[in-house]
Amino acid sequence: MANNFEFYAPTRVIFGKGTEGRVGALAKEYGAKNILIVYGGKSAVRSGLLELVKKALEEEGLRHLELGGVVPNPRLDKVYEGIALGKREKVDFLLAVGGGSAIDTAKAIAYGLAEPEKDVWDLFAHTRTAQNCLPVASILTIAAAGSETSKGCVITNERTGEKRAYDDNLARPRFAVMNPEYTKTLPDYQTESGCVDIMMHTMERYFTGGGNMELTDAIAEGLLRTVMKNARILHQDPANYEARAEIMWAGSLAHNDLTGCGNDGGDFMSHKLEHEMGGMFNVTHGAGLAAVWPSWARHVYKNALPRFVRYARNVLGVAAEGSDEEIALLGIQEMESFYHSVGMPVNFSELGIRPTDAQIEEMAQRCLAACGGHTGSAKRLSPEDMIAVYKAARDGSV
Ligand code: NZQ
Ligand code: ZN
Repeated sequence: MANNFEFYAPTRVIFGKGTEGRVGALAKEYGAKNILIVYGGKSAVRSGLLELVKKALEEEGLRHLELGGVVPNPRLDKVYEGIALGKREKVDFLLAVGGGSAIDTAKAIAYGLAEPEKDVWDLFAHTRTAQNCLPVASILTIAAAGSETSKGCVITNERTGEKRAYDDNLARPRFAVMNPEYTKTLPDYQTESGCVDIMMHTMERYFTGGGNMELTDAIAEGLLRTVMKNARILHQDPANYEARAEIMWAGSLAHNDLTGCGNDGGDFMSHKLEHEMGGMFNVTHGAGLAAVWPSWARHVYKNALPRFVRYARNVLGVAAEGSDEEIALLGIQEMESFYHSVGMPVNFSELGIRPTDAQIEEMAQRCLAACGGHTGSAKRLSPEDMIAVYKAARDGSV
């Protein structure tokens, strides 16, 4: 049965080769006068993209300044630094060059500058909601988080180890420039982690306990099959433009809510569980998801059996005969084989972490707090369930 829904995807997408040259005209069109460019380590410098962007802005006479040094699992201190800089320099527009970490940092700075008298962390602690946000846009260099079109923003408070999300349409980027060419310099591990994240954004919306639409399912299944096929291609042939383009577009559609229309809001527990792993162990987001998903899936599949069977048949092509439970379990095994085939982990030891029992209990408590009452849809997870999933990922799935 289809639930009521609202679909709001206002981000203008400019996709393909050479599109970065249009950023000056685009920023001007959206009223930017004083732009803060936010980027990460050195990848955007090395590729020459940052220089091109600055040149394009200068050609339109737009003032700009820079904030580099954003790290994966982006940190609150960098956000505060950007807010202080933006206040001093009267910034009115945020332009991220990079992936989810640069874009989310830009979004958080945009929230902070729009309500300068308030602490931006309150949003992530869920003690208030944003009333305003400066305009944000992005030039994407990694297909993964989907932040270029999503309402999401994820920041880590490095002092407490809390990695927290704040979702609000106010921060949806005005435009996203996506040239797949720029993703060719990604290390394989980042490319494939990105592919896992893209799939997971769709799977979180697919494995639900209530509400589905045939069209949404068809879009989701097509997207998932396309990402798997092209993730395998890129594992062998990282310079393949066509595969890069497929993955990049999938990344945006997977997280702009298109694959959730008509469902009940999705499950999102693999994400919530992973965010705690990212906060505590600073793991790469997509790889962390791959490492926790199989244990989550084996823990919950009986509660959403028809969805797991459908997934096994329609996405993974499981053709074997058997009971629904057998087919669902075969599907989970197939996912593990796929993750392995593209160099992704399927448990904590392959991910390279070994949390103690005490750390697992802490992650579960924090996860519960971060959930704000929404603890899943395929199955609502209690803290004991969360601990069981983490322990299965650490000790080997049951
Ligand atoms: O910092 P640089 O030098 O740019 O290196 C980055 C970084 O090390 C590198 N990279 C990016 N583009 C590159 C490149 N290296 C070579 N060539 C390129 N073209 O890749 C590394 C990862 O970058 P990052 O921005 O961290 O990746 P991603 O896009 O996966 O973002 C991950 C963050 O987004 C959050 C994650 O939790 C994580 O913090 N998420 C944000 C969401 C949202 N806002 O809607 C939803 C997601 O579920 C996710 O939680
Ligand atoms: Zn994600």
